[in-house]
Amino acid sequence: MGTEAAGLLSEQVRDAYPVLKEVVYLNVGTYGIMPQSAFAEFQAMLTDFETRGVAAGGRSGKGTEDTRARLAKLIGAAGPEEIAFTRNATDGINLVLAGLDWQPGDEVITTDEEHEALNHPLSYLHTHRGLNFKRLVVSPEADVMLARLNEAYSPKTRLVAMSFVTCETGTRLPVKAICQWAAEHNVLSLLDGAQVSGAIPIDVQEIGCDFYTSNGHKWLSGPKGTGFFYGKREKLELLSPAHVGAGSLEKVDVPAGYGEPFHSGQRFEFGTRAWSGTAGLGAALDWFEGLGWDNVYRHVHTLNDYLKARILERPYLKLLSPVAFEQSSGLTSFVIEEHEAQQVANMLREQKKIYTRVVPHYNAMRVATAHFNSTQDIDTLMAALDEICG
Ligand SMILES: Cc1ncc(COP(=O)(O)O)c(C=O)c1O
Repeated sequence: MGTEAAGLLSEQVRDAYPVLKEVVYLNVGTYGIMPQSAFAEFQAMLTDFETRGVAAGGRSGKGTEDTRARLAKLIGAAGPEEIAFTRNATDGINLVLAGLDWQPGDEVITTDEEHEALNHPLSYLHTHRGLNFKRLVVSPEADVMLARLNEAYSPKTRLVAMSFVTCETGTRLPVKAICQWAAEHNVLSLLDGAQVSGAIPIDVQEIGCDFYTSNGHKWLSGPKGTGFFYGKREKLELLSPAHVGAGSLEKVDVPAGYGEPFHSGQRFEFGTRAWSGTAGLGAALDWFEGLGWDNVYRHVHTLNDYLKARILERPYLKLLSPVAFEQSSGLTSFVIEEHEAQQVANMLREQKKIYTRVVPHYNAMRVATAHFNSTQDIDTLMAALDEICG
């Protein structure tokens, strides 16, 4: 499919999403939606596997391995063996937090803009395992974050765990500098990429993170319940799997009571799994590859710039996200002066069928500019905001 001069994908992309004829969908940051071709492929595999069982010929299983290899390539991993399939981004965070050999008093450095996906496991481990954590105020500036890291560091620091893109303001953290700092201090690094994969380019080897987690169900337009985890080859073994079973052990001697997990991401995969889902995610990757990843990323960027320009034009809207796209992402948050964001979001949904999300921490509205959104979507949102609040 070709691209328009303005850096946006062709409007034809929208035909793959029938719901866009009914609603203005500006919340891919919560749930993505599947393009019809990928959904049909996913459904076909689901039907095949669920109604034919072993007679289905293993199409979903093969699709899973194909998806693993393509995800590895998408995020710049050294190979598919560094990828484990999970159910969502939160799963990957737990593989690290539950898998490390914590000592009481160990410290994790995180930020003040994390999702529950990270905040909740950290709180749980603080209560039950004596783990401590320090929260840095988020900044997209490397110098600022490095100064904050140096201040927070102690000999007890074991892990830096934070979003690559925060869910509250869509701030893109200077992750390369952060992960380099971590390596220099003998501290492990975990990046939450729930708002990254499919929205902006990522190269885990260039960034130098030890672990990266993401999902298939937001920007990647895959089925709900799909996710993946990356672990640098030589760091995967630091994570003890909390669950093992058929498929996760490389060496096992049941009579002797001996079991050794795979050294690859497979160490986290066991038992019968929702292979149609991961294969369905592969069908979504087909769709994006057909569009061209560069075109997809450019669209998200261009539309995000367009949205921010419309926000900055309006005195009653206060932009919270960094203006420069290099410091932000596909998520944009803004405060609507003298209004409760939740109330406005409810009105947009009920009266105008416009779907956004609210960030309670800042009483802000969050808008996602996905590859299927258009300038018309943004104009419709702005006209509705002007009418309700302007
Ligand atoms: C930054 C961030 N991390 C984690 C999550 C949770 O993702 P999942 O539901 O795939 O675990 C979200 C979802 O909104 C998010 O924005």
